[in-house]
Amino acid sequence: MSNIGKKYSTGILRSAEMAAISCSKLIGAGDKEGADQLAVDAMRSALNEIDFNGRIVIGEGERDEAPMLYIGEKVGTGNGDEVDIALDPLEGTTITSKGMPNSLAVIAAAKKGCLLHSPDTYMNKIAIGKGYSDDVIDLDASVQHNIKSLADAKKVKPSDISACVLERDRHAEIIESLRATGSRVILIPDGDVAGVMMTSQEEVDVDIYFGTGGAPEGVLAAAALQCIGGQMQTRLVIRNDDEKKRAEKAGIKDLDKKYYIDDLAFGDIVFVATGVTEGTMVKGVKKYSNSFLTHSIVLRSDFNTTQYIQTYHPQSI
Ligand code: FBP
Repeated sequence: MSNIGKKYSTGILRSAEMAAISCSKLIGAGDKEGADQLAVDAMRSALNEIDFNGRIVIGEGERDEAPMLYIGEKVGTGNGDEVDIALDPLEGTTITSKGMPNSLAVIAAAKKGCLLHSPDTYMNKIAIGKGYSDDVIDLDASVQHNIKSLADAKKVKPSDISACVLERDRHAEIIESLRATGSRVILIPDGDVAGVMMTSQEEVDVDIYFGTGGAPEGVLAAAALQCIGGQMQTRLVIRNDDEKKRAEKAGIKDLDKKYYIDDLAFGDIVFVATGVTEGTMVKGVKKYSNSFLTHSIVLRSDFNTTQYIQTYHPQSI
């Protein structure tokens, strides 16, 4: 099959842009469900205009709980290539509803079978940027070990390392251990797709990502890192029978498996994130009198390129 980026990056970009514009109407409105719904509707409509045979593998949830963009839903015109889609129409519903930075509309497309069908559970994650040997990080090693190993690989002191962590009570021990090494801890209120991606962005001062977040977000972040380079190791967190069933339904046989980046996303991938609120990686949606301006990051695995795209859209959208 020919290349996903070449054929579909424009349609995938437009799907993320439409989601971002639509939900931007509810930035700061205190309505996270409403904002999410606007993003879902707009992304779905735009995806259905793409001439491909798309299938959602990471979406809004199981078919019985998500009326739209549910796992298994077919999108696109039904013509053309079979393409697997992972998406989060609004990554950061709470931060959007509070008008806080770094919410994104996110979508990745890959050849059929190249994205992990992950259940909607939590996932333990560790990630670093590109250019390191495979033995620098280990999900099963201590925070101290990982920081020392990364600092040695970078030929810097642990105090020169910046670690990004979601600000959650469950991360208290990780945060304490990080601070004990002398590392800078960059706490984010939400949005660990961006948190992982920042490890690969030279202009952003984040060297390593640690912590537990959504498993679907883990696959999306892995898709992004596969395009730009970087390493990621993860493991599903299965807390009860319901989650066990979800995992089994998704085809996961070994619940304790350590997933490396190549197990999460591989092959020919295009990844797009469009800013909703102002962000570290991309700016948010800007509304003018006659148009909207969107800012997106487009990553392609075929060329390993990072494109920053600004698009003016007529107000009538
Ligand atoms: P939403 O877009 O659903 O609000 O998720 C944001 C997010 O911060 C993700 O980036 C992250 O993976 C997950 O929530 C963490 O979950 P929790 O808020 O339950 O700790």
